[in-house]
Amino acid sequence: MTETLLTGRVLSFDGNPFDTDFTDATRLDEAVVIGAGKIIAVGAADDLRRAHPWATHSNWGNHVLMAGFVDAHVHYPQTAMIASWGKRLIDWLNTYTFPEEARFVDPAYAREVAARYFDLTVACGTTTMCSYCTTHPTSVDAFFAEAQARGQSVVAGKTCMDRNTPDDLRDTAQTAYDDSKALLDRWHGIDRLHYAITPRFSPASTPDQLTALGQLWTERPDSLMQTHLSEQIDEIAWVRGLFPDARDYLDTYEQFGLLGARGLYGHAIHLEPRERDRLREVGAALVHCPTSNTFIGSGLFDMAGLMASGHRIGLATDTGGGSSFSMLRTMAAAYEIGQLRGTALHPAQLLWLATVGSANALGLGQQIGNLTPGGDADLIAINLSSTPAIAQRVAQASDIWEAIFPTIMMGDDRAIDEVWIAGHARGTKG
Ligand code: GUN
Ligand code: ZN
Repeated sequence: MTETLLTGRVLSFDGNPFDTDFTDATRLDEAVVIGAGKIIAVGAADDLRRAHPWATHSNWGNHVLMAGFVDAHVHYPQTAMIASWGKRLIDWLNTYTFPEEARFVDPAYAREVAARYFDLTVACGTTTMCSYCTTHPTSVDAFFAEAQARGQSVVAGKTCMDRNTPDDLRDTAQTAYDDSKALLDRWHGIDRLHYAITPRFSPASTPDQLTALGQLWTERPDSLMQTHLSEQIDEIAWVRGLFPDARDYLDTYEQFGLLGARGLYGHAIHLEPRERDRLREVGAALVHCPTSNTFIGSGLFDMAGLMASGHRIGLATDTGGGSSFSMLRTMAAAYEIGQLRGTALHPAQLLWLATVGSANALGLGQQIGNLTPGGDADLIAINLSSTPAIAQRVAQASDIWEAIFPTIMMGDDRAIDEVWIAGHARGTKG
């Protein structure tokens, strides 16, 4: 087996820095050995050189070597309309999002955008993402085929919606069930690909459609389920009007069998006490999408409170409601929202959310999101002095966290100097 010994500032996690002191939760090593697509060992450079004398050595100096970023909630079909001006959620969907998603009826367009999306995100150091597709099954095929060709571990699903959406994006309860089932059978568990049953959000699905998708999840509990929850105040009022018998927004999923530990609930900002309790009881994953929440004006996610009460939380761009493809920019926004709520998130907590936290949310924590021997070799090399502005700040840094934080706050794709996917260097810098 060909092995590679990478030396640099190797950062990994021994624990969760939200409930353990960050010095105990993190590890800093000198080297990592990869081979056959896996992490083989992490440790002192001399020890690993002795134990792996035939390994090819690649020295990354002061770069941080860590797990690739995991983006737990994106809409790849919104790549071409990211940063669209001046609307809030429902208006934004109707004005910008739905017309763009309608273009994915053309399989060639879906393939073109999927390739573009993966190029843009790998340059940002994102090695895994969980994406919504459009209602068109071909948009799902395009996404999975592109991920498969690149050897990436991804989660995705056909977005289902049978009301309150334009005719050219609408499916039915039956076609949503049939198409989702066929796609699940075609892609789930193939190579590194995973399927998520995907009702967009309850205002866009009739009770019949939610029932059908709940039934599919019961039949295929090994798949994931992703949707949106309590993102904006107007949206919540709309949900109340559409489901007068529901106890709250979460109940519009719960009563149809769409609440569970393998469920991913995007945004989850304006939660009622019952919703918080139920989400924690079932061990569901919440996905924080901070650039989206500020960009569309949704509100301030309660990271500190939800973490303290034991919720599972991942981090995500929510491209293109989110305003960036970069998980660095996303961590910066999470930090800023934390500040607005009175909690300064530590760089170790931000990096944990963008790797281990998101991987756990996707149920993939055994394989990705950390440098654990036996895990998949999805890694990135981060240049901590990627721009003059960052470099001059880092020159004053007194420890690794002070050296990393400027890149979290001010960094972008220029900070990502290499990406390894299943052990293969992608050569993102050409
Ligand atoms: N709620 C339903 N659909 C969407 C979407 O595409 N983006 C965001 N941010 N929220 C949604
Ligand atoms: Zn979303």
